[in-house]
Amino acid sequence: KVIVIDFGGQYNQLVARRVREANVYCEIYSYRTPLDQIKAMNPKGIILTGGPNSVYEEGAASAPKELFEMGIPVLGLCYGAQLMMHVLGGKVEKAPEREYGKTEILVDNTASEVFRNVPDKSIVWMSHNDYITAIADGFVVDAHTVNCPYAAVENAEKKLYAFQYHPEVLHSEYGREMLKNFVHNVCGCAGTWRMDDFAENTVKALREKIGDGKVLLALSGGVDSSVAAGLLAKAVGKNLTCVFVDHGLLRKDEGDEVEAVFGPSGQFDLNFIRVNAQERYYKKLAGVTEPEQKRKIIGEEFIRVFEEEAKKIGAVDYLAQGTIYPDVVESGLGGESATIKSHHNVGGLPEFVDFKEIVEPLRDLFKDEVRKVGLHLGIPEKLVFRQPFPGPGLGIRIIGEVTAEKVKIVQDADAIYREEIDNAGLNKTIGQYFAALTNMRSVGVMGDERTYDYAIALRAVNTVDFMTADAAEIPFEVLKKVTNRIVNEVDHVNRVFYDITSKPPGTIEME
Ligand code: XMP
Repeated sequence: KVIVIDFGGQYNQLVARRVREANVYCEIYSYRTPLDQIKAMNPKGIILTGGPNSVYEEGAASAPKELFEMGIPVLGLCYGAQLMMHVLGGKVEKAPEREYGKTEILVDNTASEVFRNVPDKSIVWMSHNDYITAIADGFVVDAHTVNCPYAAVENAEKKLYAFQYHPEVLHSEYGREMLKNFVHNVCGCAGTWRMDDFAENTVKALREKIGDGKVLLALSGGVDSSVAAGLLAKAVGKNLTCVFVDHGLLRKDEGDEVEAVFGPSGQFDLNFIRVNAQERYYKKLAGVTEPEQKRKIIGEEFIRVFEEEAKKIGAVDYLAQGTIYPDVVESGLGGESATIKSHHNVGGLPEFVDFKEIVEPLRDLFKDEVRKVGLHLGIPEKLVFRQPFPGPGLGIRIIGEVTAEKVKIVQDADAIYREEIDNAGLNKTIGQYFAALTNMRSVGVMGDERTYDYAIALRAVNTVDFMTADAAEIPFEVLKKVTNRIVNEVDHVNRVFYDITSKPPGTIEME
């Protein structure tokens, strides 16, 4: 395996991800990890990440000289590169100009192992205040940029490499190749590791860690908690209890689909508890129209229901959560500066459960990696490639008061919409799409009769990060078909709108 040593930079998980993409197993450790411990793991290579400090500052994160003298290949990135030079006798100083952004890099040493299959000129991502002004003995220059004479340097004999830029960021055009070259050509890793191995190793590690302990997991039916449940079920079987709260605000048939996979007749051996709390939620939501208040009620009620179930089960050893890496980032945590905080979707839960420790088996993974693990576990594709679905569910896709009748309307309309998007082969091309129920009723005519019914709004957006979004351009034919079917098949709907507002000023959800 390869070890990534975390110096607190913002792209550390991306480094790990790129190594995994090169089919090499990797683990991240803090720079505080004692060298003996690192050595004992017998890594094939070590990568030092970027970080916010200056190597010459007092108390800055450092590394012992011995790290570079163990015969293990080391690649330093940004701060890691500066640190390597600093420790080995080179010089790092404040750069006259901060270098930030896409920068052209020119390769000087075309024979370098790390620049194999990399053109002489390409773009890399720079983000640094300091730079290397003198390289350590035994090093040669691999590449430079206009402002950076030592953009990449190496001591091939000792297998030490230092890049001032960030190859892990996608803006670095050939960054992946460079990292792959390092782990394959320099470290000699075979590149045979797969996400499947992650799944198997994680199952084994969870089994060792948890042993006979009891684990409790709030299963939402979303991708992350489902994959976490799958891993834990394989690891500890019936010692895992999954509580699945059907709040009556799920999409059509979703509760049954989750039960089919994780319930007693499903493929996993675990203790599955489905709480049918629909009525309870509808009662609490009766008469409430203010969106934030609806969210609050739905969130609090979830905690109440879960707490009741947890009390029945009694004390557990572990509370499991499907936190994935982007959640960790979103809550402003991650890596070196991390203090564990609960996942935003199950916020507050830990306070109401009697447990000793939290386990988060997906904490280091990105969404697409989680999906790969899910497929390996045999979780149906339908669940693994599910659309993002908000925790408060249809509660925030019904404008105005939420009632059982309105839930049924939006469920049926949404099911038709999704089916037709599937039929048109568009499901993997649209970021997120759903039907919402406007609170508007208007006059229509059906069969010779006057109707006075609701309007459904269809939404479909494309987005990179869900912070901004544009309406997807669904072919008019598809929209017409969906509209026809909805007004014909769903009672109490006589109009369908298509929302083409971008975000901002709109939001993706309609609440
Ligand atoms: P908005 O409506 O804010 O949505 O543009 C952005 C993305 O976030 C999802 N969303 C949520 N996800 N819990 C979640 O897990 C929530 O309370 C929640 N609210 C919005 C929304 O579906 C979209 O993908």
